[in-house]
Amino acid sequence: MSELNLILLGPPGSGKGTQGEALQEDLRLPYYATGDILRAAVKDGTQIGKQAKEYMDRGELVPDEVTIGVIGERVEGPDASDGFILDGFPRTVPQAEALEDEMNKLGRKMTAAILIEVPQDEIIRRLGGRRTCEQEGHVFHVEFDPPNQEGVCDVDGSPLIVRDDDKPEVIEKRLEQYRTKTAPLVDYYEDRGILQKVNGDEAPDDVADHIRGLLATLRREEEMEM
Ligand code: AP5
Repeated sequence: MSELNLILLGPPGSGKGTQGEALQEDLRLPYYATGDILRAAVKDGTQIGKQAKEYMDRGELVPDEVTIGVIGERVEGPDASDGFILDGFPRTVPQAEALEDEMNKLGRKMTAAILIEVPQDEIIRRLGGRRTCEQEGHVFHVEFDPPNQEGVCDVDGSPLIVRDDDKPEVIEKRLEQYRTKTAPLVDYYEDRGILQKVNGDEAPDDVADHIRGLLATLRREEEMEM
């Protein structure tokens, strides 16, 4: 396939990060997760981090101009020239339009927007049980993916914490933001013919297999067109 430019779309806790990591390993493409990038900026106390923190703590979206700048500079960088995986961007129609403009300017196209669908009660179980490593953000789940030692990251031994925005009142706000601001992207990408839906309410490996399957289908379709 010429190049793979992928978007992982889905509500909070649908497994975008989990699948993004698996895809990154499979495809060896750069993976840009706006949530991770913004959390790192908050931790480092950068200008972007200072702008983003109050929104993130409330479970609201960070202003478009901040995230568009953050992703724009990565997409046009040399690392992304053979393709890339976006997780958590775009999250609003103006962000999607900015990405489309950027890709047009570069003479490139998005390959697929992969929508990971998960019912709301499952999302709440996932976010409520998520534990995140303080040092590097490695992700676990008390029930579905427990660490070997409770409260300790398997990878680097640092403490596992509950993300500030995984507290119940903030989860509700994030879900509301998804419904009002991000869900319209489903129609946006459907209209452009690149929406691919995946059932995310299965074990992580099974979801990853579905995504591999749909990428293989896209590859075959492209070969038949050539
Ligand atoms: P972000 O970090 O992107 O949060 P999110 O979209 O709410 O996504 P999550 O990280 O909560 O979940 P996920 O879908 O990655 O699920 P995960 O794989 O971890 O953004 C945080 C904030 O940053 C936003 O609220 C906003 O303020 C700001 N922001 C970011 N991007 C922005 C943008 N573009 N514009 C404006 N603001 C922006 O899985 C969740 C849990 O479930 C884990 O514990 C995992 O182990 C478990 N799990 C995963 N898959 C499965 C499975 N199949 N079965 C069972 N358990 C599973």
